Amino acid sequence: MSILDDIETIKTESLKEVSTVDNLESLESLRLRFLGRKDGHISKVLQLLPTLNPDEKKQVGRQANEVKRALEACIEDKKRLLEDASLNQSLSQSALDLTLPDRSAFRGKLHPVTQTMDDIVSVFSRLGFNLAEGPEVETDFNNFTALNHPPDHPARDAHDTFYVKDLRDASGAPFLLRTHTSPVQIRYMKSHQPPLYIVAPGRVFRHEAVDATHSFVFHQVEGLAVDKDISMADLKGMLGLFAQHLFGSKARIRFRPSFFPFVEPGIEVDISCTLCDQKGCRVCKQSGWIEMLGAGLVHPHVLRGVGYNPDQVSGYAFGIGVERVAMFKYGVDDMRLFYENDIRFLKQF
Ligand code: DAH
Repeated sequence: MSILDDIETIKTESLKEVSTVDNLESLESLRLRFLGRKDGHISKVLQLLPTLNPDEKKQVGRQANEVKRALEACIEDKKRLLEDASLNQSLSQSALDLTLPDRSAFRGKLHPVTQTMDDIVSVFSRLGFNLAEGPEVETDFNNFTALNHPPDHPARDAHDTFYVKDLRDASGAPFLLRTHTSPVQIRYMKSHQPPLYIVAPGRVFRHEAVDATHSFVFHQVEGLAVDKDISMADLKGMLGLFAQHLFGSKARIRFRPSFFPFVEPGIEVDISCTLCDQKGCRVCKQSGWIEMLGAGLVHPHVLRGVGYNPDQVSGYAFGIGVERVAMFKYGVDDMRLFYENDIRFLKQF
């Protein structure tokens, strides 16, 4: 076999191998095998040149260089192809896909009890009431005495009070965690003159065992209006509007006589069950009515105590249980769910 035949064989074999090689390492070792300076097949052929006669030298030299250039170009093309493929592969395997939609973070929102309290306050503020606030640690005087619970009056026992240890006011009376939002009435009346229309939302505390409808900490919205000639009719009109704003135009209210020391007469107010259209359901316990708040006309003792003249002004007051409203509104039958703060429960509101 002549050298020219060898060159031809090198050409066909090397090109065939290049076409089947499928990775960069094999391509490089192939390149070294055929084109390597010292030991490559082509170099070996060129090393023979000195032994050839001038004619053969020229022919073999030209032929070998041609194959060398063709093979180099072919390897270069293949190299680019394999590089592109490996880049595409690593891109497609990478975890970062900028075209994917984002995994939206869970956005926080207000607690259902806070939402309900805000709703109640917003209804009354649209009806012309101002916002008032008072502290959670109160004096015995504001929480009880000024609200017409005389010292040692049994009505105090109805509220299981948390007293603040070792803290007493100037008169030696203990401080306590307010058992209702009604003391805000006293604070507000002492610092303002009628006419006044306020709502006071807030947290209240009672030393009570926790069950489906009781907790040692819960929320109320207190309302107070003091003006000339305020009557039960005003209270009824206002609470009727409130019920319709919060529960829809079908909502009705009813008054039942009741007793609270700081109002006279005192009433309890029921709202018609809008969940069952008063047909009777689990939430209204088949009665068609939901007990929702206490109210009444401000007792003359209370008005006098803050320096108002009961012959010139009168007022109504009401206290709404926020958790009760929230339970009714959302059809929740166990108050404890509001305090356990299970995110699966809270996410629904
Ligand atoms: N403070 C009362 C309670 O917590 C609720 C209440 C009843 C508030 C009658 C009032 C009212 O303003 O007039 O039990």
